[in-house]
Amino acid sequence: MIDLRSDTATRPTEGMRAAIAAAVVADEQRREDPTVNELQERAAALLGQEAALFLPTATMANQIALKLHTRPGDVLVAERLAHVAIYEYGGPAAHAGLMLEPIDGRAGRFGVAELEAVTVPSTKVADQRATLLALENTHNASGGRCWPLDELRAVTDAARTRGLAAHLDGARVLNAAVATGVAPAEIGRLFDTVTLCLSKGLGCPLGALLAGSAVTMERAWREKHLFGGAMRQAGIVAAAGVYALDHHVERLAEDHARARRLAEGWHAAGLPVDLDQVETNFVQLDVAALGLEREPALAALREAGVGLSSTPHPGVARAVTHLDVSDEDIDRAIELVPGSLPSRAAA
Ligand SMILES: Cc1ncc(COP(=O)(O)O)c(C=O)c1O
Repeated sequence: MIDLRSDTATRPTEGMRAAIAAAVVADEQRREDPTVNELQERAAALLGQEAALFLPTATMANQIALKLHTRPGDVLVAERLAHVAIYEYGGPAAHAGLMLEPIDGRAGRFGVAELEAVTVPSTKVADQRATLLALENTHNASGGRCWPLDELRAVTDAARTRGLAAHLDGARVLNAAVATGVAPAEIGRLFDTVTLCLSKGLGCPLGALLAGSAVTMERAWREKHLFGGAMRQAGIVAAAGVYALDHHVERLAEDHARARRLAEGWHAAGLPVDLDQVETNFVQLDVAALGLEREPALAALREAGVGLSSTPHPGVARAVTHLDVSDEDIDRAIELVPGSLPSRAAA
């Protein structure tokens, strides 16, 4: 199957496996693992922050960040379809005791006025307060969309003015950086904390980083233990991360180019694909617009040898390009999908 369900589908390359095999390791909980330490230093510098912490998943990185910036009962402001709002199993409430104030975004983004509307200072001495803004770049649910740097700056500045800290769910921030031509550090330094995922476009088997100030990351270290995320010879995995930072960042542009070619191919074949949505490695396919139910459509495509997945938008499927998708795979997907959707003739 040509697996376009998610960029999490990648398997380590030969080069990455060699780096894993050669990794120098020690006890991470004693902070002695040189490969983990190297990865953390590299990631901090890349993201424009003082320090970073290696974690098993981006979900854990986000959840730790929420706890660092808030107290139970506080309000988290995030885009309505942000990963942290809809895909983390209620983590903001379960772990940090937060109330969610969702903002309806456009392409995952919103402006200063919308932020200000939900963060009006309280007239009471003590009240539940909005204390954290969490943004997502690229924004998964809207199809891997990017924030322009000036918009990010305006919204994070406004958050600070209102007394909110700012967290970036940058699980795919390197896709955003490559697509917009902005250095990741320029994006990262606008935030108090930044999550970076290693197991998506970067092609690692697992791992994520949370970056922030040295003081904040010291506090994060305790949370890492509390979450059960403090590991032992974790350099065996961190080595994949170091390898990915050396070899798999610039090449994200290839994933983006393949997504664009796929979108254009499907569009030319008459499928409902909004080409303007394709900024990075996601293509959204509106099967409902063809009069089709999404689940049978996905099943038929799987049967034909192309794996797509769902989005939170009813009737909309998605394809995601990644390290394990070749130009030939894209050619095949362009060829196979239009003819394999179940009742196109009937639609
Ligand atoms: C934007 C975003 N944030 C966070 C995550 C969570 O990543 P993980 O699976 O490493 O917990 C994902 C995963 O898809 C994501 O898309």
